[in-house]
Amino acid sequence: MELIEPVTMAERPTPRRIVVVGCGHVGLVTAAGFAHMGHMVTGIDKSPELIVALRAERVPFHEEGLSELVGTGLSSGRLLFTTSYQESVANAEFIFLAVDTPTTPGGGADLRNIRAAAHSIAAAIGPTNPIIVNKSTSPVGTGEIIEGILLHNLVDSTVMPRVVSNPEFLRQGHAVQDFFHPDRIVIGAHSTDDAMAVSELYRGLDSQLVITGLRTAEMIKYVANSFLATRVSFINEVARLCDALAVSVDEVLDGVAHDARIGRRYFSPGIGFGGGCLPKDIAALRYMGERLGVPTPVLQAVEQVNLAQRTSAVRALRAALGDLEGQTVAVWGLTFKGNTEDVRESPAMDVIGLLLNEGAIVRLYDPSQPHELVPARLREFLHRDPIEAARNADALAVLTDWSEFRTIPLEQVSGVMRGRVLFDGRNLLDPDEAETSGFRYIGIGRPRPAKEHLRVAETAAAR
Ligand SMILES: NC(=O)c1ccc[n+]([C@@H]2O[C@H](COP(=O)([O-])OP(=O)(O)OC[C@H]3O[C@@H](n4cnc5c(N)ncnc54)[C@H](O)[C@@H]3O)[C@@H](O)[C@H]2O)c1
Repeated sequence: MELIEPVTMAERPTPRRIVVVGCGHVGLVTAAGFAHMGHMVTGIDKSPELIVALRAERVPFHEEGLSELVGTGLSSGRLLFTTSYQESVANAEFIFLAVDTPTTPGGGADLRNIRAAAHSIAAAIGPTNPIIVNKSTSPVGTGEIIEGILLHNLVDSTVMPRVVSNPEFLRQGHAVQDFFHPDRIVIGAHSTDDAMAVSELYRGLDSQLVITGLRTAEMIKYVANSFLATRVSFINEVARLCDALAVSVDEVLDGVAHDARIGRRYFSPGIGFGGGCLPKDIAALRYMGERLGVPTPVLQAVEQVNLAQRTSAVRALRAALGDLEGQTVAVWGLTFKGNTEDVRESPAMDVIGLLLNEGAIVRLYDPSQPHELVPARLREFLHRDPIEAARNADALAVLTDWSEFRTIPLEQVSGVMRGRVLFDGRNLLDPDEAETSGFRYIGIGRPRPAKEHLRVAETAAAR
């Protein structure tokens, strides 16, 4: 599969003037992707530093294929960046919102960025009467909030605000591929004409189109993320049971995943989910339930299991090493998942914090070299090389699923370490290979020895 769709797509959309507000992980991919499809796109961000970097073709975060996409967009003249709403909004036909919607202290979604963007758009909008397309993950009813802000603040009274929800499902680390090959494109609107106009922007992409009402589209995004999180917490609970029952979770997964209703994707045990989306989106959905008096015990359990995975990782290391005080733990992986530089809500960072609380000494390595992104107190523990990080360590903990870790020769790693414990918090490595390389392997739901003693078969054979 091509990462970036060839420019000679069989069907091309009619080129439109698009503004994308927010040039972060979602907005930048959207802006550069649309420019690649032939649209004229302006990306707006409130951060002047980010706009300066993007104009100079510097993408300040790790996303495969994105620098190239931004580079070709800039040189084609179809992709521009600015901090000014006035310049670009007045002529836009479509304005996408891709600003961040973090969690409030109470667990709800913080809509200040969306509100601010809506106010700025209202002040700059012109007679092109653009459709406002909300891509930010935001609670059910946000589309109506945006409509309200526009109605009350429009400078040009001939404009009739039209708001559409087009939630984003891309995965960080695969965002460019996901833009050009989405499983589905969800568009929620009050009017079918507006929904169809937005869908036309994506013409040529091979994807299922799902058109719904505005509020339904907003809900779909929360349900999708909450269900993915539920799968992760469910398999984590199963993996803990597997450990206690001396059953391999890998074999259990093989046995259940062939069921088409279940499948294998997003169904791997580990130290839990994190990042800028799943934890905040579950919290926001629970908050919506609380406000409406609708209990959400399943989501509450999903959160609890997820947090418990962090502590159970530390418990496993403590059990293997005895007291953690004064023990050196090398950690591979700081980001919330592989192939990204993002340490927001990273389970690995939580585990590192818990290890430090117990008096362990940490030596840290992450392939994204996230020096500026980790808290200052951790920077002195960072190493640029995985083997160097492991030197003289009593244990090695793999906390993020970077595929690079599979390629590091484990014999060389155990050779520089003082101890033999390898905690694989992502079930990423081959336990047999780790043990052959001299490690005592501890995974999640992977009790050792690997094979359950097949007593039933043997008894039957003996009869
Ligand atoms: N990151 C993901 O994998 C992902 C996937 C699907 C959906 N989402 C959702 O998409 C939205 C954006 O997420 P992100 O990860 O791209 O966030 P981000 O923090 O990477 O980027 C947001 C950008 O918006 C800019 N911004 C904020 N307020 C602004 C304003 N008023 N005017 C102009 N610029 C403004 C910020 O400066 C920042 O650069 C969130 O709602 C998120 O939940 C994210």
